[in-house]
This record gives sequence, C-alpha cells and structure tokens, in this order.
Amino acid sequence: MCGIIGYVGNEECAPILLEGLRRLEYRGYDSAGVAVHDGTELRVLRAAGKLTALGDALARTPVHGTTGIGHTRWATHGKPSEHNAHPHVSGGIAVVHNGIIENHVELKQRLKAEGREFLSDTDTEIVAHLVDLATQRGLDLFEALRSALREIRGAYAIAVMSKSDPARIVLAKNASPLVVGIGDGVMLAASDVPALLSHTRDVIFLEDGEMAEITRAKVRLERVDGTRVDRAPVRITWSLMQAERGGYKHFMLKEIHEQPRALEDTLRGRVVLETGDFEAGEMGIGDDDAKTVKRVILLACGTSYHAALHGRYLLEGLARVPAVAELASEFRYRNPVVGPGDLVVAVSQSGETADTLAAAKEAKERGARILAVVNVQGSAIARMAHGTLYTHAGPEIGVASTKCFTAQLAALTMLSIYLGRRRGAVTREVGVALLAELVAVPNKMRDVLATARHIETVARSIMHARDALFLGRGLSSAVALEGALKLKEISYVHAEGYAGGEMKHGPLALVDRDMPVVCLLPSDSTLEKMQSNVQEVRARDGQVIAVVDDDKAAASLAAHTLKVPPTHEWFTPLLTSIPLQLLSYYVADLRGTDVDQPRNLAKTVTVE
Ligand code: G6P
Repeated sequence: MCGIIGYVGNEECAPILLEGLRRLEYRGYDSAGVAVHDGTELRVLRAAGKLTALGDALARTPVHGTTGIGHTRWATHGKPSEHNAHPHVSGGIAVVHNGIIENHVELKQRLKAEGREFLSDTDTEIVAHLVDLATQRGLDLFEALRSALREIRGAYAIAVMSKSDPARIVLAKNASPLVVGIGDGVMLAASDVPALLSHTRDVIFLEDGEMAEITRAKVRLERVDGTRVDRAPVRITWSLMQAERGGYKHFMLKEIHEQPRALEDTLRGRVVLETGDFEAGEMGIGDDDAKTVKRVILLACGTSYHAALHGRYLLEGLARVPAVAELASEFRYRNPVVGPGDLVVAVSQSGETADTLAAAKEAKERGARILAVVNVQGSAIARMAHGTLYTHAGPEIGVASTKCFTAQLAALTMLSIYLGRRRGAVTREVGVALLAELVAVPNKMRDVLATARHIETVARSIMHARDALFLGRGLSSAVALEGALKLKEISYVHAEGYAGGEMKHGPLALVDRDMPVVCLLPSDSTLEKMQSNVQEVRARDGQVIAVVDDDKAAASLAAHTLKVPPTHEWFTPLLTSIPLQLLSYYVADLRGTDVDQPRNLAKTVTVE
C-alpha cells in the first residue's frame, strides 16, 4: 500500500524524500508527491505514474527547504491520477496518508455543507480540512491533528505539515505502519524501515492509537487520549533487502503473514454489524438489481479461479442465486449463453489478466452486468466493469497469490451476504450472527500464523515427495485445489487437488507410502465422508496430513495435523487456506527454489 516519508533536518530535503520513496517502491504505487517547506510557503509537487515522473517534475520546478513529507499512493478511493496523488492541501496544511478513512462519506458531506471545497476524490483530503479547521480555531499543529483524529474512524498512518511551522511534522498511526527514525540533528518518519536506513538505524515503531511530533532535535510521543508514551528507540540490524521484506525471507512469507490485515482492510468500512449487512459501495447493485439477478457467472484464472469456485458455493448457499464459476480462458471459446439478467463477476488480483478481461468484455457486449472483484484500482477490468468490489489486500509481489486469494474469498462472502439479505435468503438475524463471526476471523488467522514453526517441521517431512494429493469436500473443495496449485507453483512438486468424492475415480491409484495426502477435515457436514477418504488413504499406506479444527477429527490416522481455530463453516476456508500456503512455502524454501519468482511463471498474464 502507500508509502510515507518525512524529513526534518539541515539538508535539502527534496532529494532525500525522493530517495526514501524509492526505498518504499516495493510496496507498489501509482502516483507520488512531496510537500517541502521553503521557509515561507509549503511547496507541493505531485505526479501520476512512477517516481521518475516526480523526479522530472522536481527537476523542472526545484523546491528548496529542509523539512518535507513525501508519499507514494496506491489508489483506494479515487482513481490513480495527479489530482488524487498526495500530499493533499487545505489552507496552510499538507497531509499524506496511508490507509482508509471509514467515515469519509459523512465527514465529506458535513465539510462540504460548511463550505469546504474538495479538489480530489480521496478520503485523505478530509484530514487536511479537519486539521486546517482546528488550527483556525487556534490549536497548534499537534493538537489540531489530535482533534481531527477524534473525528475520523479507520486505518491510517498520517504525516502533516503546516505553513506556519517550518521545522515540524506531526504524525499519527492506527492500523497502518509508521516508524520514526532518529538521526543526529535529523528526524525522519516512514512507512517502513528501508526508507530510513541510509540516515539512521535507531527507530521507534509507533503503535496503534499513538501520535508523534518530530523536530530536528526531539521526538514527542503520546497516545491520542493524551497519555504520554516513553519508548526507547530500537537498533535495526537488518540488511536493506531484509528490511524491504519486513524481516521475512521472502515476499510470499510476508504476504502470508499480512492476511489478517488484508482481511480487516477488505471488510473495513463495509460491514454493518447492527443490521447484518454490507454497504453497496461502488458495486453498482441496488436493491432491485439484487432481487432480479437470475444467475451469477464468476470468471477468473489461476488462483482467482479457485476463489471463484468457492464463490459459487457462497452465492448459491447464502444468496440462493444460481451460480457458476468458469475459467475465463475457456468461456469465450464456447459461444456462451449470457446476457441481461446475468451478473458476471470478474475475479482478478491484477485486474489485467488478458483472458479474464476479454471474457468479461464479451459478456458485457452480450448485455450482462459486470462486477469487478479486483485488487488494483483503475485496472483494466475495473475500468470496463459496471461496478467494483475492491479487495484491499495491498500490492502483492510474490508471484504465487496468497493474501489476495483470501481477500477474494472475503469479497465474495460480502457479495453473497449482500445479495442474500436483499433476496430474503439471509435474514437480519442470520446476517448479524454471520458478520459478528466474520469480523473475528482476522484474529483467528493470527492464531493459525502462530503455528508456522510446526508447519515448517511438517514441510520438512514431505520435502522430498515427488507427488502430493490435496482433498476437500464442499466448502473445502476449492481450498484443496488451491493448496495443490500453491505447492506445484513454487516447489515444483507435482500436486493434484481433488474433491474428496472423486478420489476413488482415479487418484487413489496413485496413493502409496511415498504420497503425502493433505486432507481438509473441518467439522462441517462433509466431515464423516472425508474421514472415510482418510481411511482409504491410510489403507494404502498414504501419508495423511490433516487440516482440522478439532483434534478428534483425524484421531490416530493422520501422520501430521495442522490445526485451525473453529469458525462458522462459511468462513473456514479463510483459515484452512493458510496452513496450506505455509506448507507450500516451507517445502519450496527447503528445496531451495526461487519462491517469489517461480520459473516460467508471471505475476500478471497479459497475453491470452
Ligand atoms: C498468474 C499468476 C497467478 C494468478 C493468475 C490470475 O498466473 O501467477 O498467481 O492467480 O495469473 O491472475 P489475476 O491477476 O487475474 O488474479
């Protein structure tokens, strides 16, 4: 997601800000900007596209000064463009922000009613207005930010500068990362450590609910509620490469660990717990549209196709609307019957996959309504669709998709409950119960991630396997397919994913003592049947690795168990996907493959 840099020191800061932003490029971005105090004014320069565009703008119009903030933007609210790029300015205030302000709609309405003019489509601009209003009431910059924070809800890392404060930056953090760097007569702030390392290795990580003020000589740290915070700096010993990966060995491992946050961000601002419902947002599906949808066709490729397969279960089970999932690459070759009344959901991490784009275009030409479930704002599929339901997983760098997959599952869950509520298939009471559990899932994901060490030992025991089988039924069948895809993609171990009921129709012939068989055994209506599969595998000496939410499920039959916390059966895949991702990751790493860039594969496939 977005990158933030701030500098208060003695040197010309524009090149320092630009260099800091370069160090944050790995986070992904679509536009960038800086604000520098030139002693009298705040000078703001922004540019769409890569940092070279901002560099060119700075070369054409140099800005001089020793205090500044910079930002690389990964669009969430408003498409990628210069006018949506940060910093956003109101009066004498400049703001950069990473995160999502949940109550931006109501705040914007109120501020507009008070005569405030908005120059961008972002949620961030609200913060600039709120801080500006508070300074006009006489508050100093730190207190003005505190007053603004009391009004906003959501996830944020924020850095603010004021025209009337030439050597001060104020900061706040909630749910998005922010770290202060302490140099000799120099203070910095950044979204992540790599941006600070050429200046200092002494840093203070801000915690949620904290604010900071940096000047050349001092850091002041407080909680938003006014409590003072005393935290000693820590010394960073990571190399630059390690730092970019947050200390993880690979981006894929980092992204696996980012899933609780990705899920929280995808749900953020959309869940209405009180009514057991979701906000329509930009889906473009009104109450009447929801009622009149005759069929949903989910189109996707690769991992996104597995999310689509799961979406079919959700849409039929929860919304009671007929649903099919199709490989986008096949859809176009069979002269599909599709048209008005069909809701076509194009599921894609990148929003650029050529087959998914072409299939969705064809469906659109034939009169279907297109909804894009994509992770990249303003991507080709998002642009051609009638409506969008963005996953807010943040940029995914590892070629093998992980956090985007679970975010897609969450988005399709939202869509299903949203349609179900309007079609009368999900009552308010059921909706309330489902959502109460859904918002608890991120913490349960954290519990699963805490078992990574155990999963690594299991991976060690199967790392030399030539083949592997993944079995799941019902709500776990798509997870099994995805588990097999992950393993083959990154470790080059041949793996097959099967619906459990199909095992006897072929794959059982392959099972022997050298074959690890990963069985998904959550306590749902398919458990007994899956236990029969386990017996059949054991009878052929196959090595069972059981994914369970109850130790009794696999009893003595499994060679290894991977445990997840129990949750509602509709949400189990959000948890059971994680041990399978970790298992693949560790097998691949132990085999020494290039985990983030597996041979022959590309992150985004833009050819058909
Ligand atoms: C490539 C990637 C996969 C991804 C698939 C679909 O094959 O390697 O990880 O699942 O494309 O990509 P999309 O961006 O449409 O989700």
